[in-house]
Amino acid sequence: MKILICDKTEPEAIQCMRQAGIQVDVRDNISSEELPQVLPAYDGMVVRSRTKVRAALIDACPNLKVIVRGGVGLDTIDADYARSKNITVMNTPKASSASVAELTIGFIFAMARQIPTTTSSMKAGKWEKKKFEGDEIGGKTLGVIGFGNIGYEVAKRALALGMMVLTYDVYEPKLDGVKWVTEDELLSLSDYITLHLPLTDKTRNLIGAAEFAKMKSGVRLINCARGGIVDEDALYDAVVSGKVAGAALDVFAQEPSEGHRLFSLEQVIGSPHIGAATKEAQSRIGVEVAEKIIEFYNSRPD
Ligand SMILES: NC(=O)c1ccc[n+]([C@@H]2O[C@H](COP(=O)([O-])OP(=O)(O)OC[C@H]3O[C@@H](n4cnc5c(N)ncnc54)[C@H](O)[C@@H]3O)[C@@H](O)[C@H]2O)c1
Repeated sequence: MKILICDKTEPEAIQCMRQAGIQVDVRDNISSEELPQVLPAYDGMVVRSRTKVRAALIDACPNLKVIVRGGVGLDTIDADYARSKNITVMNTPKASSASVAELTIGFIFAMARQIPTTTSSMKAGKWEKKKFEGDEIGGKTLGVIGFGNIGYEVAKRALALGMMVLTYDVYEPKLDGVKWVTEDELLSLSDYITLHLPLTDKTRNLIGAAEFAKMKSGVRLINCARGGIVDEDALYDAVVSGKVAGAALDVFAQEPSEGHRLFSLEQVIGSPHIGAATKEAQSRIGVEVAEKIIEFYNSRPD
């Protein structure tokens, strides 16, 4: 079996696949123009977020049998179309959950104690002790919208920190101490609201002006899921009006998002889509990718 690695992949994962007897070629910078010429010679491909696998590419590769995406979500792959052509499509759904959950908790602490602003103040040579009264997160209510792999990991950590945790999801949460509520209850009762659901036609702009209006004054919002779930113009207005006391964003409707106007506001902090960017998550993604390819290779009928 021949596999083409189309995006950056852990060297250990590549080594594991080769040791299992699979021919693995690495073209981790291959362009979308080159792919239709190169990929037809392969049985499988490994991608991350960079390489998009759309129907036209699938049509150009009649030998393709397996696509593995290192990461959560399959929005960069026409997965249903691929499956209709008998191609197996897999991803690594749990590999980065702990890393995204830790970033979320980090954002909660950063907002509660204004750590980015206190740091800027210190770096500007100031000692503004009186200006920075924060609040504790223990005893506060965290609303988790979307209680899948990441929502669960966030809730576990928040409970350990003494927060009360509410969740709104299609399914009932399986974690003691978490209360399953309606979306309106979550919006009106939470001190912090964090989003952990996919971007779909149903969830696009899920948090907009009407939802901000239902929230507590002084609420803080975290989005480490996908840009587009929050209406960024409505968020800007809600921060300027004082309704939202803080927002922490790892993801944006348009990425990269240099010069985004939300960052002109002191109450908004963020990071450039680094939720899964830890050594541990990347290593787990590599291991899972290799395991999935090897499992597929071993289960093929001869
Ligand atoms: N920031 C990053 O780098 C990063 C890294 C990994 C994942 N993510 C994103 O985090 C999000 C969550 O990932 P996950 O692994 O927990 O996914 P998951 O599939 O395990 O969980 C998603 C949950 O959302 C719920 N859900 C879906 N639509 C809903 C709706 N309309 N209302 C309420 N609940 C709904 C589902 O029932 C499910 O429980 C995804 O969007 C993923 O792309 C971001």
